[in-house]
Amino acid sequence: MEKALNEQIAMEGNASNKYLAMSCWCDGMGLEGSATFFAQHAEEERMHMLKLVNYIQDVDGKAIIPAFVAPQSDYTDINEVVQTAYESEQKVTKSIYKLVDLALKENDHQTHNFLQWYVSEQLEEEVLMRKIIDKIKLIGEGARSLYYIDQELSNQAATEETGEEA
Ligand SMILES: [Fe+2]
Ligand SMILES: [Fe+2]
Repeated sequence: MEKALNEQIAMEGNASNKYLAMSCWCDGMGLEGSATFFAQHAEEERMHMLKLVNYIQDVDGKAIIPAFVAPQSDYTDINEVVQTAYESEQKVTKSIYKLVDLALKENDHQTHNFLQWYVSEQLEEEVLMRKIIDKIKLIGEGARSLYYIDQELSNQAATEETGEEA
């Protein structure tokens, strides 16, 4: 179980860096709202990583802090960024489910309980990314579409800032 949780540390850490790279890409494109949105998410993923580190240490295990894996730094457009984010969240969800399966198999009730927070969190994140993808479709490809997409991501970032459900 400890080994699998350590692998999840790497996954959350890499997700954090992936979002940070997305934030930089958006910033470079002048998409300020989107840059803020992804920077916030990078922070969130780091928090997910730290939560795992603390848990492993709390149960008297040894948390291993892994090396960075270079994230994708270039994208074709904002659609690709958001789509990549969504797919990445789906992968994380699958990984969390595997951890839950393992906890059940090993009768590790403590870890099973700990992981439930991640199960709920993943649902939230997938819903959020899907909502944004749907909004982007609604906005369409008109002349000011990028402006509106950025506005949308900026609103999402502001919503999360105030702690409201996105
Ligand atoms: Fe996460
Ligand atoms: Fe996430």
